[in-house]
Amino acid sequence: MIAQLTAADLAAALLATAGWIGAAVTLGSGRLLLARALCALAVAASLARVATTVTLAAEGWWFAQEKVTLTLPLLLAGGVTAAILAGPRVFGGARPAGGPAVASLLTAGYAAAAGLIFPLLIGYPATWSAALLTVALVGAATLVTWRAAQVRVARAGTALVALAAVVGAGLAFVPGDTVDDGGVPSRLAAGQARPVSALRGPTEPAPGGTVRRHELTARRATIALASGRTVAAWTYNGQAPGPALTATEGDLIEVTLRNKDIDRGVTLHWHGYDVPNAEDGAPGVTQDAVLPGQEYTYRFLANQVGTYWYHTHQVSDRGVRMGLYGTLVVAPRGAASTGLDLTIPVHTFAGMVVFGTHDRVEARRVSPGTPVRLRIINTDSVPRRFTLAGTRYRLVAVDGNDLNGPGELGRDGLRLPAGGRYDLAFTMPDGPVALLAGDDLMTGLRLSPDGSAPAVENTADWPELDLTRYGTARGPAAPFGEENRHFTMVLDRGVRLSGGPKYAYTINGRAYPGTPAQVVRANDLVRVTVVNRGFETHPWHLHGHRVLVLAKDGRAPTGSPLLLDTFDVRPGEVWEVGFRATNPGVWMNHCHNLAHADLGMALHLTYEEVTSSFHDGHS
Ligand code: C2O
Ligand code: CU
Repeated sequence: MIAQLTAADLAAALLATAGWIGAAVTLGSGRLLLARALCALAVAASLARVATTVTLAAEGWWFAQEKVTLTLPLLLAGGVTAAILAGPRVFGGARPAGGPAVASLLTAGYAAAAGLIFPLLIGYPATWSAALLTVALVGAATLVTWRAAQVRVARAGTALVALAAVVGAGLAFVPGDTVDDGGVPSRLAAGQARPVSALRGPTEPAPGGTVRRHELTARRATIALASGRTVAAWTYNGQAPGPALTATEGDLIEVTLRNKDIDRGVTLHWHGYDVPNAEDGAPGVTQDAVLPGQEYTYRFLANQVGTYWYHTHQVSDRGVRMGLYGTLVVAPRGAASTGLDLTIPVHTFAGMVVFGTHDRVEARRVSPGTPVRLRIINTDSVPRRFTLAGTRYRLVAVDGNDLNGPGELGRDGLRLPAGGRYDLAFTMPDGPVALLAGDDLMTGLRLSPDGSAPAVENTADWPELDLTRYGTARGPAAPFGEENRHFTMVLDRGVRLSGGPKYAYTINGRAYPGTPAQVVRANDLVRVTVVNRGFETHPWHLHGHRVLVLAKDGRAPTGSPLLLDTFDVRPGEVWEVGFRATNPGVWMNHCHNLAHADLGMALHLTYEEVTSSFHDGHS
């Protein structure tokens, strides 16, 4: 709802701007009928903006206020000016139009454009500085236009615009209200600081466990997909996806990473695995990137059962896209695995959606009655929709965490966030089963008793499953409401000047590395509010901790408790999540659309006693 409203509001602002400016141009060249039509369009679009703003405010949208106090008044002032000065010319039919009529229409256009520019330039929270600068910008454009139209402008007008500009610019340097930073904890006594590099994993497995030792060498290679097609990739051990790592609960996982020829360096990040901080693979934060010729050994206990994945965190957008990722699956101790257990990383290579290494349909023979578990991993940067046709099934785990009381699903669409995992379980029926990505009938997995791949029905109109209503609730939620730390993150885009001007992805108006850290103390109960003010989905991902979903758009989940490491904050959504701070370190907290992260949408969650001496620049 909010997403549609904000999109409609943006469209109306565009139409109003185009309408007024178009009317000015056509009136100036004497095309009266067209000018009338464009004026009517501009007026209708302006009224539509009033309606969308009122509705957004009624829906409780966080940012309706700035529309009510700034952009709407500007829009109306421009419209009234145009009505008075240009109305008689346009609708009275007097020809040819004079300077003031055309200039007033242009003014209305600038005022309408402010509604477009303001959200672009200004982050959250909106400041007086930004508001005054916006007014000054509109005023200056207006003055220039009126002079060009040879209309005398009162000195007072010029003075007011100048004043707005000066005060606005001045206020930009006054540190304003910041958003909730959680209350920065007190300074530490000297000698209490712990460096990240001291937070290493154990060197022995748990009793009864074994050591799972692997060597992964990052290098460029040409990989062959199942169809025979070849793709230039960045690989671990010449494969993309990299080697499938498996372990049993209690094992020690020990992986030595080497880099042969990935010039900008690589790391291994264990996505969703709450490893000790120095094993987390965040370059510039928990280690230096591993450059060609170097190595780094990661060690951690396999103490979380389920479906995970690993990927490079250095130049992560490019690196992961090119193939520097693989799967990590940990089985419970003592559970004999029966049936078919498939791990399926789904990735886009050179524009093709690939299941593992299958760029076309993969058909497998499975006898009826076999227990089947499909572990789907979305290794792309955008969400993907999956459907399972031909059988009833259960979504038994999300992000490696078992759901409580998952009910039977059938004709449902499963939307999997970037970086997220879904485990589907069912008993193989007598007929064929198909796993589709994006409802694409030409790719995906087919299971059947005879190994054939019969035609699949179209699944595109299956409705999307709402995870917050799936499964059954369990016990009282954790004691949130009494948390001792609360952070707010408003996600958006905006022009940022630090580190060279760019159109960045921002958190509370700032872009990494300029984003202030969220500072916590060990054992804090932390609540985080995440608001998406923009027009793109942001899959939010915190390292080192799983978060419990407390509410989405003000509504607590009614189904199974949801423990996630990646949750999709779609345009207009407001999420509340919580976690207990039990894993000391300096942790990345970022959007898992890795292109967004590279353009600033990241910050650190820092335990107050931990310091990092790595400053590699996390790019
Ligand atoms: Cu899967 Cu910080 O990443
Ligand atoms: Cu994002």
